[in-house]
Amino acid sequence: MDQETFAAVDAFIEETLVPPDESLQGALEAARQAGLPEIQVSPPQGRLLQILARLQGARTVLEFGTLGGYSTILLARALPEGGRLVSLEANAEYAEVARGSIERAGVGDVVELRVGPALETLPALAEEGFGPIDLTFIDADKVNTPNYFAWALDHSRPGSLIVADNVVRDGTLADADSGDQATAAQRRLHEMIGAEPRVTATTIQTVGGKGYDGFTIALVC
Ligand code: SAH
Ligand code: DHB
Ligand code: MG
Repeated sequence: MDQETFAAVDAFIEETLVPPDESLQGALEAARQAGLPEIQVSPPQGRLLQILARLQGARTVLEFGTLGGYSTILLARALPEGGRLVSLEANAEYAEVARGSIERAGVGDVVELRVGPALETLPALAEEGFGPIDLTFIDADKVNTPNYFAWALDHSRPGSLIVADNVVRDGTLADADSGDQATAAQRRLHEMIGAEPRVTATTIQTVGGKGYDGFTIALVC
């Protein structure tokens, strides 16, 4: 088993189950043109986010890490009339690219981008009384995933879902001696969740076009 096989299987899944979508293709193209890193969720992963949002009947969504708006558009599309998605992005240039794609995708009224490091934009969101959040997608700077999780949990309700991307990190999650700060943060996240009576959670390892990684899904009790 190798990366070539993982990518080929993702391609087959996309061909059969996740047909190309004009606005999403447009968002990817705009991001590529602007030189953004190609680290958005894969189409099969994006579809999973949509299924979770639908199952959840999510009306209020918080996203950490907009990049070019690919996952943002996916999630916004899964919301019912009157739904709201706030997406936090540190990089103003990325946010500008995302804004264009979000508008072109026709979900500009649903999505609100907040530009700046998330830990600096969260307080205003709290003051405005944002929440309770139905679904949180954590996909920004990985060292802060535990902080974002804690914030999301405090602004959730029983039944809310919190999803965190990139927690397995090529399997380094199992390495207590990993010198990588991002990996250490995912280990802390797991220890924190394990000791947190307010959630029941699991982590699923994944392979695919983006390599070997995984995501944590936590259901607020
Ligand atoms: N969710 C996107 C991918 C996000 S990539 C998708 O799947 O389409 C991670 C993003 O987090 C990058 O755009 C990066 O600029 C942003 N980011 C990094 N540090 C951040 C911070 N402190 N606060 C908010 N966003 C941050
Ligand atoms: C990176 C970030 C992501 O959110 C991801 O899914 C893959 C890679 C990165 O920063 O390299
Ligand atoms: Mg990610």
